[in-house]
Amino acid sequence: MGSLKKEEEIGQIAEEPKEAILYVNGVRKVLPDGFAHLTLLEYLRDVGLTGTKLGCGEGGCGACTVMISHYDRKMKKCMHYAVNACLTPLYSVEGMHVITVEGVGNHKRGLHPIQESLASSHGSQCGFCTPGFIMSLYALLRSSETPPTEEKIEESLAGNLCRCTGYRPIVDAFRVFSKTNDALYSDISSLSLQEGEFICPSTGKPCSCGSKTVHDVVTDDQSICSTRYKPLSYSEVDGSTYTDKELIFPPELLRRKLSPLNLSGLGGLKWYRPLTIKDLLELKEKYPTAKLLVGNTEVGVEMRLKRIPYQVLISVAHVPELNILNVKDDGIEIGAAVRLTELLNLFREVVTQRPAYETSACKAFIEQLKWFAGTQIRNVASVGGNVCTASPISDLNPLWMATRAKFRVINCNGNIRTTIAENFFLGYRKVDLNSNEILLSIFLPWTRPFEYVKEFKQAHRRDDDIAIVNAGMRVYLEERGEEWVVSDASVAFGGVAPLSLCAIKTNEFLIGKEWNQNVLQGALNVLPTDIVLKEDAPGGMVEFRRSLTLSFFFKFFLWVSHQIEENKSIKESVPLSHLSAINSFHRPTLVASQDYEIRKHGTSVGSPEVHLSSRLQVTGEAEYTDDTPMPPNGLHAALVLSKKPHARILSIDDLGAKSSPGFAGIFFAKDVPGSNKIGPVVLDEELFASEFVTCVGQVIGIVVADTHENAKLAAGKVHVEYEELPAILSIEEAVSAKSFHPNSQKFMRKGDVDLCFQSDQCEKIIEGKVEVGGQEHFYLETQSSLVWTMDSGNEVHMISSTQAPQKNQKYVSHVLGLPMSKVVCKTKRIGGGFGGKETRSGFIAAAAAVPSYLMNRPVKLTLDRDIDMITSGQRHSFLGKYKVGFTKKGKVLALDLEIYNNAGNSLDLSLAVLERAMFHSDNVYEIPNVRIFGSVCFTNFPSNTAFRGFGGPQGMLIAENWIQRIALELKKSPEEIREINFQGEGSILHYGQQLEHCTLAQVWNELKVSCDFLKVREEVDEFNLHNRWKKRGIAMIPTKFGISFTTKFMNQAGALVNVYTDGTVLVSHGGVEMGQGLHTKVAQVAASAFNIPLSSVFISETSTDKVPNASPTAASASSDMYAAAALDACEQIKARMEPIASQRNFGSFAELVSACYMERIDLSAHGFYITPDIGFDWSTGKGKPFSYYTYGAAFAEVEIDTLTGDFHTRTANVFMDLGYSLNPAIDVGQVEGAFIQGLGWVALEELKWGDASHKWIRPGCLYTCGPGSYKIPSLNDIPFKFNVSLLKGNPNVKAIHSSKAVGEPPFFMASSVFFAIKDAILAARAETGHTGWFPLDNPATPERIRMSCLDEFTAPFVSSDFHPKLSV
Ligand SMILES: Cc1cc2nc3c(=O)[nH]c(=O)nc-3n(C[C@H](O)[C@H](O)[C@H](O)COP(=O)(O)OP(=O)(O)OC[C@H]3O[C@@H](n4cnc5c(N)ncnc54)[C@H](O)[C@@H]3O)c2cc1C
Ligand code: FES
Ligand code: FES
Repeated sequence: MGSLKKEEEIGQIAEEPKEAILYVNGVRKVLPDGFAHLTLLEYLRDVGLTGTKLGCGEGGCGACTVMISHYDRKMKKCMHYAVNACLTPLYSVEGMHVITVEGVGNHKRGLHPIQESLASSHGSQCGFCTPGFIMSLYALLRSSETPPTEEKIEESLAGNLCRCTGYRPIVDAFRVFSKTNDALYSDISSLSLQEGEFICPSTGKPCSCGSKTVHDVVTDDQSICSTRYKPLSYSEVDGSTYTDKELIFPPELLRRKLSPLNLSGLGGLKWYRPLTIKDLLELKEKYPTAKLLVGNTEVGVEMRLKRIPYQVLISVAHVPELNILNVKDDGIEIGAAVRLTELLNLFREVVTQRPAYETSACKAFIEQLKWFAGTQIRNVASVGGNVCTASPISDLNPLWMATRAKFRVINCNGNIRTTIAENFFLGYRKVDLNSNEILLSIFLPWTRPFEYVKEFKQAHRRDDDIAIVNAGMRVYLEERGEEWVVSDASVAFGGVAPLSLCAIKTNEFLIGKEWNQNVLQGALNVLPTDIVLKEDAPGGMVEFRRSLTLSFFFKFFLWVSHQIEENKSIKESVPLSHLSAINSFHRPTLVASQDYEIRKHGTSVGSPEVHLSSRLQVTGEAEYTDDTPMPPNGLHAALVLSKKPHARILSIDDLGAKSSPGFAGIFFAKDVPGSNKIGPVVLDEELFASEFVTCVGQVIGIVVADTHENAKLAAGKVHVEYEELPAILSIEEAVSAKSFHPNSQKFMRKGDVDLCFQSDQCEKIIEGKVEVGGQEHFYLETQSSLVWTMDSGNEVHMISSTQAPQKNQKYVSHVLGLPMSKVVCKTKRIGGGFGGKETRSGFIAAAAAVPSYLMNRPVKLTLDRDIDMITSGQRHSFLGKYKVGFTKKGKVLALDLEIYNNAGNSLDLSLAVLERAMFHSDNVYEIPNVRIFGSVCFTNFPSNTAFRGFGGPQGMLIAENWIQRIALELKKSPEEIREINFQGEGSILHYGQQLEHCTLAQVWNELKVSCDFLKVREEVDEFNLHNRWKKRGIAMIPTKFGISFTTKFMNQAGALVNVYTDGTVLVSHGGVEMGQGLHTKVAQVAASAFNIPLSSVFISETSTDKVPNASPTAASASSDMYAAAALDACEQIKARMEPIASQRNFGSFAELVSACYMERIDLSAHGFYITPDIGFDWSTGKGKPFSYYTYGAAFAEVEIDTLTGDFHTRTANVFMDLGYSLNPAIDVGQVEGAFIQGLGWVALEELKWGDASHKWIRPGCLYTCGPGSYKIPSLNDIPFKFNVSLLKGNPNVKAIHSSKAVGEPPFFMASSVFFAIKDAILAARAETGHTGWFPLDNPATPERIRMSCLDEFTAPFVSSDFHPKLSV
C-alpha cells in the first residue's frame, strides 16, 4: 500500500518550512496560530470530518482513532500509527499526514476492503464505534510490511470498544487480512475464491474459522451462496479496484524538514516545539512550571477532565537526545521521549538477540507492556511521561525500581546527574526533579545469570485497564552447594500507597536467605508490614489489594523456583499442581460459529441481509445527532449540575458564568416558559431544580455559549450555595427509612405460601438475600439533542439521539407550553441506546429547548461521557430477599420473595422495571406457591431507568441464586435442580398466564447435547483436581423472556409507506434504528410484501410528523410491531393496486406503480398494528401481560486464577428460539451483542457510588464515570469459543412471518458465565474445606472472585464470611 520507494527517494531532499501545516486525507491545511487548546479531534470535527467520533475524550474507547503518518528522517521511512485524536494536541501533528475514516473510502468512490469486509460481516450495528475499528486495522495494515497474524490484529483492537456487536463479527471481518490468508492480503488476483472454499456462511466471505453451518431450508432461487461477498473492494462508480486509490504520503511532507514551533491558544496558552535539547532547556529555564508533552495521555486528561489550566506546553517528542534507544554492553539506554510501542519493539528484538539470562527484565517489561493501555495510547505515550507523572499505579515504575534502573536527569545548565529508580519517587505524583531539571533517559541493566525479574498486574479488565495492584520483583541467586541463596532482591508494588512502593523490609529480609519454603513463609509474614493500607484508603478494595501483594509474591516464589529447576536442581521442586499459579494467560484466536436456518419468505424476509446503513457506517458517512452541522447562529449548551445528593438550594451566583468567554445565556427553573415538571409516567421531576436537589448530577440550569468548551467553562463558574440534608444512599437505607416512591408497591400471589411452608411437603426451607449490581448503558454515542425554532418560535424542531422521539416531542412541548403539533422530533439513527435513551433523553432535549426557544437560536446539547454517566441513570440495582421451600429431591414448592429496586430520585420507569422483575422472578421454574412483594425505593441517586431486559434479568438472577443454593444444600448439580423444576407446555405462571408453544425443553436439550455437558463436567473436575491455583467451572442456564410492553396501551405501532413511480418505496415508522437492525428488518418485510428487491426500499429517519404517538423503541417488540404496521400499509396499497395488477403482466414493479399512478390510485398508506390478546390487571395480580415468550439456554465454561481473581471464558454456547428469523444474521448479532453486554453486567462492570460502602468517594457521587474507571467488555473478554445457534423448525404463531423478538432475551444468557465462575470458586474453596453455600454478588469482579477463594493469602486480612462491598 502506498509507494514507499518513492517516499525514500524524495525524503533525501529537505526543505525549510514557511508555515505550520498539516495534511488531512491528502489535503493540505495551514494551521493558524491560536489553536493550541484544540485537540486533533476537535479540529477534524470542526472542519466537517465527523466520521471520527467522540466517545469519551479520555483515550478509553477508540472511537476517535485516526492514523498519523510522518517521515522519519533517521529511519528513512514513513511511519504510520493509530492514535486517539481526542488526546492528540492539534499542533503535535504539524508536518504530518492524518488519515481519517473518510480518507480510507466512501460509498461513492468505493469502500476500502477493510470497510467492505466489516460491513459485509455484520460488524457494524449502531456504527458509532465502527470508524475507530476501521482506523485501528487500517493503521496496522499500513504499518505492517508482512500480513499481521490474527493475534496481532486482535492486539491492535484492544483500545477500541464496541457496545453492540460483542466483537465476534469484527474479529471475523478482520481476520481475512491476517497471515492465515496471505493470498488475500497480498495478491489481488487470487482474491476470488472457489465458491464454498473456506467461506463463512454467516459473513459470506473467506474466513479462517471454517466451522460454521447454515441450513438453507426454504430454497428460493436466490440462496445465500450466490450473494456471497468477495473481499476485493471496487468502486461502483468507475469499477476500479480500491487499492488504486490508497492515499499516499504527501510528497511535500517528504521534502519538508520539521521546524521549531512557537504557537498559542485560548486563554494565553503557549505551545512550543523545540527540536534540540539546548532549545528545550532554555524554554524550561524560562518556564519552570511548563508541562513537557510527548503523548499528552496524562496532561490531556488532566487538562480536559480534571480542568487543570496549564499555561505553557512544550512538546519534546522530537528532541533527538530524548529519543535515543541504545543497546549497550551493560544494558539499554532509553530516551525519556521514547514511545512505549518503540520500547516494546526493541525489547522484543533484544530477547531474540541476547543471551536469555540477560533479558529477564526485558521479558518482564514485554509482558507488562502487553497489558498497558491500548495500541493507540502505546503508540504515543512515552516512557518519561509515565515515569515523571509518578502515578501510584504506573505499570512501569515498580519494574524500573525492581530492576535497578538508573534515571539520568539533566538541568537547564546541561549538567547531568544519575539517580536510581528506587529513590526517584518521593510522594503522590512527586518525583526527584527540581524545577530546572528534566528526565533525560533511563538505563536498564542486563540481568545476570540466576537473576530473575517478573512483572505482575491485576486490573478490573485485562485489556486496556489501569492496575488495581501491580508489582515488579527481582532476585539474584547464588548457588552455594546444594543451596540457592538470595544475593540481592528488590520487590516493588504499585496501587498500595500514594506512590510506587519499595517493600524495603521484605527486601532486607530476603537478602542472604536460602531460597526455600522458609524464605517464602518469612517473606509472606514480613510483606504486610511493608504495605500499610488504611480502611478507607482511596480506591477501596483494601483487603483485596493486601491479599494480592501476598499472592503476587507467592507466584514469584514459584516462578523463580521453576526457572531454576529448568536448568539446575533445587531441593524443593515445584509440585505440578502449583504450576497453575505461574502459567500465564494466553488468549488463543477466537473460534466461533453461528448455526441457523434460512426460512425465506418472498424476496427478502428471512435472508441474512446486512444492516442497511452499514456501508455508510464503515466509511464514517453515517450521521449522528452531534454530526449535524450547526445551523447559523447556533449555540452550544452545558448543564449546571448539583454537587450534593440532597440539599436545599440557598442561592445561585451566576456572575462568573456571565463574564466567561463566549457566554450567551443562562437559564434556571424560573425561566422555563411552560411547566418545569417532567416525567414519563408521573411528573415527579423538575427540568431545572428549583428549591431542592435530590441527587448529585441533578440539572439546576443550562448555559449557552459560542463553543462547547466555553459553555462548559461558564457552567463550571456557576456557584450554588446549599444547605445539606440527610441523603438515602442505598436500598437498605431506603427500606429502613421506608423511603419508597408513592404508589409503587406491588404484590403477586399464586397458591398459599404460608400453608406450604407449614406443611410436611416442604422438607427443606432456605432463606437468603441477593444483591444485584446496576450497570451503565455505555452507548458509544452520548446523549445529544439539537433544537431550533422556526417562524420565531411558533414551531420547534429537533434532532435527538433518542429511542423515543415522541417523548422528546412531548417533553419539549410541555416545558415550552406549545402544542405537540408544533413540535417535531427527528431521529435518523442513534449510536446505541439499550434503554438509556428511552426516557432520559427527554430532559436533554427539553433543557436545550428552553434557551433555543427563548433566544430563538439553535442550541446543541451533547453530553460529555462523564456528565452522561453522572446524570442519566443506569440499570437498577436490586435487593432480593427470598425464602424457598423444596423437597429433598429438589422440587421447589414455595417461593416467598421481597424485591426492591433502586429507582433513584424520580420514578421514571422504575415501577414497570420492578413489575417485569416480578414477572420474571420464576425464570423458567414451576412453583406451585408464590408470593412476591415489590417496592420501588426512593434514593438520592440520579433516576435509574430502562436497560436491556428492563428488570427481567435482575428477577431471573435472583431466581438462579436460590436454585443454585438449593443444589448446594442437596449436594446435587444446579442443572439437575433446574431440570426437575422446568415449566412446560400449559404451565400456569404466578400471574395467571398459561404457557403455549413452550420450547424450553427443546433449547435446553439441544444445548446440553451440543456442549456435551456431562463429559465437560468430568474434564473440569479432573482439571481442578490437578491444578491448585487455577480452577474451572461450568454452568447451564435457561431463560424465558416475556414479549410485549407490560403496559397494554404501549403495544401499538404505526407506519407510513409511500410508493413512488420509479418503483421505489419509502417506509417511515415509529421505531428508531439504534443498531439493532430494525430498519433493515422492516424494509425486508416491505420488500417481500411488494415482491421487490430490498434495494428498492428505503427508510430514512423516524419523525414525529410522519408517524405520530409512537411508543419508545423498546421491550424487544419493535420489529414485531413496526414490521406488522408496515406490512399493513403495504397490504393496503397492494389491495388498491390489485385491480390494475390483475389486468395484465407488468414488466416490473415500477411499470405497475406508474400504471396505478396514471389511474389516480393512492400510493401512500398508513399502517397500524396492535398486539392482540394481552392485558394484565394489577388489582387481581392476574392476566396475560405477554404475547409470547422467547426461550433460550446457554452453557459457559470459565477458568479463574484463584490467587488474583483473574478469569476468562473458555466457551460459551447459546441456543435461542427465535422462530423463523426475519434476518438470522442480524438476530445472531443481537444474541452475541446481548451476551457480551450481559457478561459485562455479571462479571466486569461495577458502579461505585459514594455511599456507606465507599467512604472514600464523596457522598452520592459516581466514581466510575468514564471508560478509565468503568470497564465494559473489550475484545479480550469474549469467550475463546463462542457458538450461537438458533433453534430450527419452530415457527412462532404470534408474530410477523413466524419470527420472535430478540433484543433483550439473550442478555440474561451471560449469567451462565456468572454461575460458571461461582462453580469454579466452589472448587477453590473446597481446597480449604469451605464446602457450603456462599454469597457472590454481580459483577463477579477479580476482587469478588479472589476474596471468595479463601486460602492462606486471604486469611491474614479477612474472615471466611468476608463479603466485598457493592453499591446497591
Ligand atoms: C486510556 C489510557 C490508558 C492508560 N493506561 C495505562 C496503563 O495501563 N498503565 C500505566 O502505567 N499508565 C497508563 N496510562 C497513563 C499514561 O498513558 C502513561 O503514564 C504514559 O506513559 C504517559 O506518557 P505521555 O508521553 O503521554 O505523557 P504526557 O502526558 O505527555 O506527560 C506526562 C507528564 O510527564 C512529564 N514529562 C514528560 N516527559 C518528561 C521529561 N522528559 N522530563 C520531565 N517530565 C516529563 C510532563 O511534564 C507531564 O507532567 C493510561 C492513560 C490513558 C489515557
Ligand atoms: S473518544 Fe477518544 S478514545 Fe474515546
Ligand atoms: S456497533 Fe459498536 S458500539 Fe455500536
